[in-house]
Amino acid sequence: MNTLDDLIAKIDPERIPRHVAIIMDGNGRWANLRGRPRSDGHAEGVSAVHRAVEFSSDMGIEYLTLYAFSTENWNRPQHEVDTLMYLIGWAIERELPDLIRNNVKIRLVGDIPRIPADARQRLLNAEKATAHCSGLTLLMCLSYSSRWEITEAARRLAAQAAQGVINPEDISEELISQNLDTVGVPDPDLLIRTGGEERISNFLLWQIAYSELYFTPVLWPDFHKTTYAEAILDFQNRERRFGKTSAQVQNDPDSNF
Ligand code: FPP
Repeated sequence: MNTLDDLIAKIDPERIPRHVAIIMDGNGRWANLRGRPRSDGHAEGVSAVHRAVEFSSDMGIEYLTLYAFSTENWNRPQHEVDTLMYLIGWAIERELPDLIRNNVKIRLVGDIPRIPADARQRLLNAEKATAHCSGLTLLMCLSYSSRWEITEAARRLAAQAAQGVINPEDISEELISQNLDTVGVPDPDLLIRTGGEERISNFLLWQIAYSELYFTPVLWPDFHKTTYAEAILDFQNRERRFGKTSAQVQNDPDSNF
């Protein structure tokens, strides 16, 4: 068994992914396996979030995007939605001093007005209180789905075209990216999904066009720094071609990003 230090020693510090996105799945199953309520799995998931943020920061990753609550998650039983909202608000407030101390900037992504007032206030407060931080940017996707985000961007662009602010021919990939909630953030280099399912579930569909995908059976509450380090090592062993040939990228020293 590789220890965390063994794994870290194998990571090439020159080829750390700039942006990692994570679909945190498996909280419910983690709790079921222990005969405990699903909410216990979510509570344990908060500790895994803490570890993932700490490791991202230590590794010099610039952006970490977490799928904390999807648009579709609103359809879960009301008590589970309430628990998740409570937990997210409570966790962000509890972690705030540590986030500031570690220079982590919070950025909220998604339909934030839909979040209940109490959790929303705590989240907006954390975003404001960390606005000056210049280390890791932690993007928290809440009430988020990629189709929702792309639809909103299309609406904005259509309104601008109708008002004559832009011409339809001005709409480019760049302009669409600029109208997504992730504006200004480089596309993820690595997308990790825990919990064993191998699907994207309406997450960052536009942004992951060329991301490396890493699926692990590990349930989110069991996601430790070693699991994260293994994902980064796997990423570093891949050749990112962005549609080019292997020979082309091997002649380009910057090709991995
Ligand atoms: C998926 O597991 C997980 C979620 C829907 C919620 C993830 C949220 C947290 C870990 C808390 C986040 C807190 C902060 C501060 C960001 P699941 O319930 O779908 O698990 P299952 O597939 O086993 O049922």
